[in-house]
Amino acid sequence: MLSDSGWTGRKFLQETLYRDSHIKVEEEPKTRVCGVCEPNQTLIPLPEINKIAVDPVIFWDALDDRQTIRTYSDEEMHKWELSLLLHYTQGVREKKNGSHFRTVPSAGALHPFETRIIVNRVSGLEPGIYRYLPLDHALVHEECHSGDHQSLCHVCKNPNLISSSAISFIWTAVPERMIWKFGPRGWRYLFIEAGHICQNLYVACAALSLGVCAIGSYNDDDINCILGIDGDSEFCIYLASVGKIK
Ligand SMILES: Cc1cc2nc3c(=O)[nH]c(=O)nc-3n(C[C@H](O)[C@H](O)[C@H](O)COP(=O)(O)O)c2cc1C
Repeated sequence: MLSDSGWTGRKFLQETLYRDSHIKVEEEPKTRVCGVCEPNQTLIPLPEINKIAVDPVIFWDALDDRQTIRTYSDEEMHKWELSLLLHYTQGVREKKNGSHFRTVPSAGALHPFETRIIVNRVSGLEPGIYRYLPLDHALVHEECHSGDHQSLCHVCKNPNLISSSAISFIWTAVPERMIWKFGPRGWRYLFIEAGHICQNLYVACAALSLGVCAIGSYNDDDINCILGIDGDSEFCIYLASVGKIK
């Protein structure tokens, strides 16, 4: 006899089994394809990736050094470090035939996520919430729908993870961007792809000697409410905190 949670999982797997008939031929929906600037928002450009000089790192060492770190120093992070982390988690590496290929894979190259960051300590950036615009490699400032950026600490089971971080990542999924093409199967891809993004963040942080912690234990309703998203057409899928190592 399956427990309730076992049953929920089985039902999810059953209802998202691969079926060719689910592949759609509909037009891509007109929802924001990925972070797009609203008319009243000012673009905050990030340091260009090809102009950032980083110390060379042995790739295998970065993979070996990947680990979760939950306590951070009070030191500020540099904007160029933030620029690299955003690029290697959701940045665009190539535009071809109307598609945007990024530093992470995505089924159908559809990239169904939005990236917001909570900034506590980054040189040259006011604390607050920002959204990343991958096509511009820039940020825009965002207002909280309720409370302020510090309210976001309390959505986590361990509030220190966000309050002590220099920055925290909030990834939200816009399912319509995936479902129009892959039908129910697309739901699986959302969760798989969130994992790709966070793993890239871990490896990039290892290469830059930054601490990072993936966060799955957060209050969904609270975070969606603070961000002003409905939890249905867009919902928070994953978080991570980052900071200088103590
Ligand atoms: C999906 C997922 C969710 C996680 N959620 C949390 C979390 O909410 N809080 C936390 O402190 N660590 C969280 N972690 C980090 C794990 O606890 C950590 O990866 C684990 O202890 C293994 O340590 P390592 O990453 O150093 O190998 C999460 C990791 C994953 C992959």
